[in-house]
Amino acid sequence: MTAALIDSFGRMHNNLRISVTDRCNLRCVYCMPEEVTFFDRRELLTFEEISRFVRIAAPLGIDKIRITGGEPLLRRELPRLVELLVAVPGIRDVGLTTNALLLEAQAKPLFDAGLRRLNVSLDTLDPARFRQLTRRDGLEQTLRGIEAAQRAGFTRIKVNAVIMRGINDVDVGPLARHARQRGWEMRFIEYMPIGAEAWEREKVFFAHEILEAIEREVAPLAPAEDYDPRAPAMDFCYSDGGRVGIIASVSRPFCHRCNRLRLTCDGKLRNCLFALDEVDIKDLLRSNCDDQWIVERLRENVAAKWEGHEINTARFVKPLRTMHAIGG
Ligand code: 5AD
Ligand code: SF4
Repeated sequence: MTAALIDSFGRMHNNLRISVTDRCNLRCVYCMPEEVTFFDRRELLTFEEISRFVRIAAPLGIDKIRITGGEPLLRRELPRLVELLVAVPGIRDVGLTTNALLLEAQAKPLFDAGLRRLNVSLDTLDPARFRQLTRRDGLEQTLRGIEAAQRAGFTRIKVNAVIMRGINDVDVGPLARHARQRGWEMRFIEYMPIGAEAWEREKVFFAHEILEAIEREVAPLAPAEDYDPRAPAMDFCYSDGGRVGIIASVSRPFCHRCNRLRLTCDGKLRNCLFALDEVDIKDLLRSNCDDQWIVERLRENVAAKWEGHEINTARFVKPLRTMHAIGG
């Protein structure tokens, strides 16, 4: 008999985010520094190691997986990992978060491998601000990537935008309007202290301001019918049906119902985005320990999970890893 992964606050964990690389073809200012030393390829978990871990975790209730990075499409043969993961008994949902720069060529192979859920990161529709935020060019390529994904058969594509006050808060309206016209589900995210820059609360453009901007510049919104006040995204609908989500990680943390675990590309298990401790799963996978031993380490890590991040308190400590090395 196996028991679910429940922590000391009663939170059940069914959601595993797996980073497949810390490399990225962009350098978003809220995520990573310009100069980075990436992991040596030998440090990365192989697809076989990842799928062994998922096979160990699935009987404990992990049924939802998201592939992240860095930029996951930089990892060679990614569709093969998708095939391995969708084949694991108990896994009912595999998603991918990407900046879409390489999606034009990869959308079809990923869809054919069984991927159905796609989140694209795009923070502006203005080429100059795209360069300012990502320190690279690529707006056109990103837009082509999203179009290719729609042609390949992906429906309900979610487009995530991190909004920083004074930088791209002016993009909220244009992004919402553009997404509405194209049938993407836009999701706006409050800027969190996990990137390379010194985080300042003044740079957070808050959920209520995002909502106001959309209502002012696009159209009125009402809470979605299936609005779940405790879910990470607060979902809203236009009267004609399009959806918008707002993820208020700072002004309305959703830690109290967090169901997420993270596996970094170098095989470390983290029970929180902001965790300061990690379990070295790679070391276990590469030793000749049996699966049960790994199950026990996994349970211990979940049991030790804290109540939540303390971004809004003086106790907050920023983790050493920046976002690109944790997994978005
Ligand atoms: N604050 C909020 N979201 C972030 N992401 C990366 N860094 C941050 C941050 N500092 C998210 C973005 C991106 C995904 C990969 O990670 O939404 O789309
Ligand atoms: Fe790359 Fe995503 Fe980080 Fe931007 S947010 S640098 S696209 S990993």
